[in-house]
Amino acid sequence: MIFQWQRWLAMSVIFLFTFSLSIGLSQVLAAPNPSNTYVWDIPAWMPKPIVPIDNPMTAENVELGRHLFYEKRLSVNNEFSCASCHIQALAFTDGKAVAVGATGEQHPRSSMSLANIAYNSVLTWAHPGMKKLEVQALVPMFGERPVEMGLRGKEKDILKMLREDKTYQQLFAAAFGRGDNNINLKNLTKALASFQRSLISVNSPYDEYRYGNDKNAISAAAKRGERLFNSERLECFHCHGGLNFSDSIKHERLAFEEIAFHNTGLYNIDGKGAYPSNNTGIHEITRKSADMGKFKAPTLRNIALTAPYMHDGSIATLEEVIDHYAAGGRTITSGKFAGVGSKNPLKSNFVSGFKLNSQEKQDLIEFLKSLTDEEFVKNPAFSDPNIGVH
Ligand code: HEC
Ligand code: HEC
Repeated sequence: MIFQWQRWLAMSVIFLFTFSLSIGLSQVLAAPNPSNTYVWDIPAWMPKPIVPIDNPMTAENVELGRHLFYEKRLSVNNEFSCASCHIQALAFTDGKAVAVGATGEQHPRSSMSLANIAYNSVLTWAHPGMKKLEVQALVPMFGERPVEMGLRGKEKDILKMLREDKTYQQLFAAAFGRGDNNINLKNLTKALASFQRSLISVNSPYDEYRYGNDKNAISAAAKRGERLFNSERLECFHCHGGLNFSDSIKHERLAFEEIAFHNTGLYNIDGKGAYPSNNTGIHEITRKSADMGKFKAPTLRNIALTAPYMHDGSIATLEEVIDHYAAGGRTITSGKFAGVGSKNPLKSNFVSGFKLNSQEKQDLIEFLKSLTDEEFVKNPAFSDPNIGVH
């Protein structure tokens, strides 16, 4: 009898102990988290982006990041900022085939749109390991191959400049707390990342039509173009699917982040699938021959504003992009990159070619144009804090 009573007591103690432990735990989990208080400017259909725990979104971070994004003193000659290559009016691209850095050096690749960058599972055209905006920002600032902003060796100078500037003293204090120590490189890249995460583009006519209530927001031609885009005949949606028209994506409603790289048969220099040697895709990182020419499928949001196209800006118009896919890969007839892309042995099976009549081609272009979000490229919140939209 006594034995049973003791057992009951022991059980209760264990129960009470685990119970109080779990209450304690739930209190910890319910502790105020600044990222929960940031108001995302997104409609209900849109899942929220995933934000790193060590860099929660706050309005103050975003505002500081906005100033830094447009800060020309963050370059070797005080003439270059992130916004020199990521121009709001062009959906944060630069209109050039390949980017040109502060010292005039050409980048092998084309500048990329930053629309909905918070949803990208991997960053840049072809780098499977580049996943954090906080880390990526260091590349244009300090990279030497190629030089973009040219800040290598100037870390101390830029921190001094920021620490002596009244506006930055206030902005850093609001975002990270008072004191010179909080004006550091880590917080600088955190703020840049937060500003970029705020660059949400979901107000195109297509969004109104597909997710809003306006069935007339896009033309009949664009609706036919959407059907073509999503057809097994054209296969575009396989790689440019989902809310961001890209298959490298992450957000709160996906169990796993999606990451993919594809060879679309843009080149075939040696008949064995070779791409130009300064631009071989993720092959540059993995060194696997099968990865030659594999790039990320970029978002197609605002695509009408972001010409020229492809990782090296080698296609000038949307018409020509469609011709490339219709041929199942691009043929270059002369010059050092001559080759038949459709015979590239490393090409994705989804780029097998198709026939479109001129009406259908126009319809597809109308659909792509319906992805332009005028509000995004004019939103004052994303513009140069000292000048406005430019
Ligand atoms: C000289 C022009 C130039 C400057 C200056 C520049 N970028 Fe870029 N940006 C590029 C190019 C080119 C790419 C593609 C790089 C690649 O694929 O290797 C890119 C890619 C990116 C990407 C990846 C986009 C995606 O869809 O994956 C991000 C994010 C980015 N830049 C942010 C920044 C930030 C932040 C700054 C300022 C600190 C900056 N960039 C400055 C040219 C530039
Ligand atoms: C196998 C996957 C795949 C399929 C299918 C595919 N794409 Fe792409 N798309 C890509 C990749 C990867 C790139 C970048 C390729 C590069 O630069 O080498 C790209 C680039 C583009 C670009 C240029 C984007 C920019 O910012 O420069 C456009 C426009 C485009 N695709 C439209 C389409 C259309 C329209 C279709 C259907 C006819 C289609 N894609 C089918 C993977 C695909």
